[in-house]
Amino acid sequence: MEFEFFLILFLILIITTVFTGSFYNAIWIPTKKKDYDRIARLSNLKPGMVFCDLGSGNGNMLFYLSKNYGVECIGIEISPFWYFYSKIKSLFYKKVKIIYGNFNKYNLSGVDVVYIFLTDKAPKKLKEKLVKELKENSKIILPCWSFKNIKPTKINKKNKEVSYYLYNKTALSK
Ligand SMILES: C[S@@+](CC[C@H](N)C(=O)[O-])C[C@H]1O[C@@H](n2cnc3c(N)ncnc32)[C@H](O)[C@@H]1O
Repeated sequence: MEFEFFLILFLILIITTVFTGSFYNAIWIPTKKKDYDRIARLSNLKPGMVFCDLGSGNGNMLFYLSKNYGVECIGIEISPFWYFYSKIKSLFYKKVKIIYGNFNKYNLSGVDVVYIFLTDKAPKKLKEKLVKELKENSKIILPCWSFKNIKPTKINKKNKEVSYYLYNKTALSK
């Protein structure tokens, strides 16, 4: 009986820590590995640029981009489980910084590319923050859901696959 109790408690703990993000903006669903290069090309990543993933999950995309494109990566994650997982992994990747907490509290002024894979409501919710904090020439990449009534600078479309929308910060300010 005691064993079952602790097992259930343990499972509840794991489930809530893995899915903490669902209480904030989005549940954890990773970006597909095969899309990492599409995202890099769309962002026109160059060594030294700063790429930030709002809600970085397991951080796998950041590890890939830092290694293959020489970019400095920042991941902000609210799920303690994914934070610890990616934080430990980041010890082996000099160019990846993983931060624990709510990305709404993180200032984006030093970022060149922001990646936002959350929900359909996220673009609208985050627009004001992006306009206020990002540098003029920064870029925003949105998978699946674009900003309503703002034309993307570029779209990366593939048959039956996720579409990626690129916006320049200046376009959002208008
Ligand atoms: C759809 S997943 C995307 C994960 C990762 N960006 C990727 O593409 O593989 C969304 C992630 O955002 C995290 N998240 C949701 N709201 C957050 C918030 N306010 N602050 C930080 N992380 C958040 C969730 O825990 C989850 O890991």
